[in-house]
Amino acid sequence: MSVRQEFDAWAADGRDRGMEERHWQTAKHALARMPAGPGDTVLDLGTGSGYALRALADTKDIARGYGLDGSPEMARNAREYTEEEPSAADLGGETPAASTADLGFVVGDFGHLPFADDSIDHAFSMEAFYYSADPHETLREVARVLRPGGTFHCAVNYYEENVHSHAWQDNISVDMTRWDADQYREAFEEAGLAVASQDNVPDRDVEIPPAEEFPTENWETREEMVERYRTYGTLLTVGVAL
Ligand SMILES: C[S@@+](CC[C@H](N)C(=O)[O-])C[C@H]1O[C@@H](n2cnc3c(N)ncnc32)[C@H](O)[C@@H]1O
Repeated sequence: MSVRQEFDAWAADGRDRGMEERHWQTAKHALARMPAGPGDTVLDLGTGSGYALRALADTKDIARGYGLDGSPEMARNAREYTEEEPSAADLGGETPAASTADLGFVVGDFGHLPFADDSIDHAFSMEAFYYSADPHETLREVARVLRPGGTFHCAVNYYEENVHSHAWQDNISVDMTRWDADQYREAFEEAGLAVASQDNVPDRDVEIPPAEEFPTENWETREEMVERYRTYGTLLTVGVAL
């Protein structure tokens, strides 16, 4: 199955909003760290419901945002949600000031970003990068479209150290690349993105039941669940275009 077929089906099932809710728990911390500001143009790779751009528009007053996605249904939903009222996840439950940002949602592939050289101030991606057919090519593309000094905040929950994510490939037809933290760093550097930081962003919002309630439907032990969310969380690698 192609990216388009797989994720069009997810969008049709409403799984885009479900992902938004789950991913927001750590994505909000990555977004808060982005040095984007008034006048900036931001690219969100694998935008899904588009929540990341709406949050940046509301909290950092960016001028423009492009949400790129290989699934036309995801892009269509993201456009619709952007025209509606922002969801609670968009702003962590706070009432937004009216945003004047110009947000657009584009169908495209990570391998060929439809943007001019040096045209993007900052790029973001949450739980999407590893679906790239050629992640090295994607990083070169990100480095090409970013202006010198622009950043790429790349957040993933599927990675080698997070042993609890390893089985995820069994449930999806699109091939996933499972790098470890060092492989992310090396690939960023090779592509011309200097690694400014890399760390694990813990998910402190997910509720972890008391020990006596284990095993649960998804977890054998409380320790495993704590490790997955509080210790591993989201691996965030930040590259700066040279
Ligand atoms: C797991 S979802 C994450 C969506 C969103 N970033 C979030 O945090 O909820 C991955 C998204 O990446 C998109 N995607 C996957 N591979 C892609 C590719 N090669 N090119 C463009 N988009 C892709 C999918 O269509 C999907 O919307």
